[in-house]
Amino acid sequence: MLVLGIESSCDDTAAAVLDGETVRTNIISSQHDLHDEYGGVVPELASRDHQRLIVPVVQKALSEAGVSAQDLDAIAVTRGPGLPGSLLVGLSFAKAFARGLDVPLIGVNHLEGHLYSVDVEPPAPPRPYLCLVVSGGHTELVHVDVGFRHSVLGRTRDDAAGEAFDKIAQLFGLGYPGGPVIDRHAENGDPAFHDFPRTQLDDFDFSFSGLKTSVLYYLRDRSDAEREQLLNDHRDDLCASVQAAIVDVLVDAVRRGAQETDAEHVAVVGGVAANRALRRRVMAAGDEEGFDVHVPELSYCMDNAAMIAKAGALRLAAGDQSPGTLDVEPSLSL
Ligand code: KG4
Ligand code: ZN
Repeated sequence: MLVLGIESSCDDTAAAVLDGETVRTNIISSQHDLHDEYGGVVPELASRDHQRLIVPVVQKALSEAGVSAQDLDAIAVTRGPGLPGSLLVGLSFAKAFARGLDVPLIGVNHLEGHLYSVDVEPPAPPRPYLCLVVSGGHTELVHVDVGFRHSVLGRTRDDAAGEAFDKIAQLFGLGYPGGPVIDRHAENGDPAFHDFPRTQLDDFDFSFSGLKTSVLYYLRDRSDAEREQLLNDHRDDLCASVQAAIVDVLVDAVRRGAQETDAEHVAVVGGVAANRALRRRVMAAGDEEGFDVHVPELSYCMDNAAMIAKAGALRLAAGDQSPGTLDVEPSLSL
């Protein structure tokens, strides 16, 4: 069974070929350089770049997998959530391609793709498992059960965790995307240098906008010279302190969620799962609480099409298929 996966929900144009349990190719063309000077994704530029890249990226995924389009058994594509113009490029292409090849089309919820990114590389974690989805666009804590049954324990009420990394890195003058840069500086910094706020809501919801505002005020309350000196002398410490504030909140939610759901397995997925402090801390929580931790390989954590192909293949195996009239759903949730 050969499934072509296509992902274009934000600023990565991606295509992958899944051959049964094996990922033959997982091609990602990132637009980070395009959006760097704006400090975030510019929707209009993103969709135009998807238009430029979609055909070459799909061609590359097929040719490096050594398959021709006629060999494909199905096409899975992200239908939402995401930027409307970006989603439209991938979905329109996939619809036309599936129609032309006369193969089934499966529209995939991007978040379901992240949930099942732990299944891409066998062995898949047994169900049920608790899944923390942390990316630039999403922060959700989800209980995942058999039969595509998910219940969302909590989600962010404002900024996503990755967005907080990105916006705070911007305040520090560290460029976009900010998560990897903060992670790198934080490795040499003191997390106790400054006590930034940890917003703890009553339930499992998250809020990171208070942290962002607190960093803004912390920098704004100084003269230009003082601020420059602080950022020069203590960049690593500030990054470590911000990172600790974000990671504390995430790990605390995972710990409470695992207790509440009696989880034996916990997965951390999405771009922020690359964060080394987060990985270490979730592993340590697992040792203490007695749950196993599953983190996909980095290329399956970031936005990618292998996870879309995987979720699509699982859906198809369960008898699901989308109509040819499938439309984008930019505000789709789990
Ligand atoms: O999953 P992803 O590639 O795209 C979205 O769906 O958003 O996630 C990208 C996000 C960005 O916000 C980026 O700053 C963050 O993941 N990120 C990290 C790290 N690597 C990527 N955040 C913290 N630490 C990292 N090492
Ligand atoms: Zn994503």
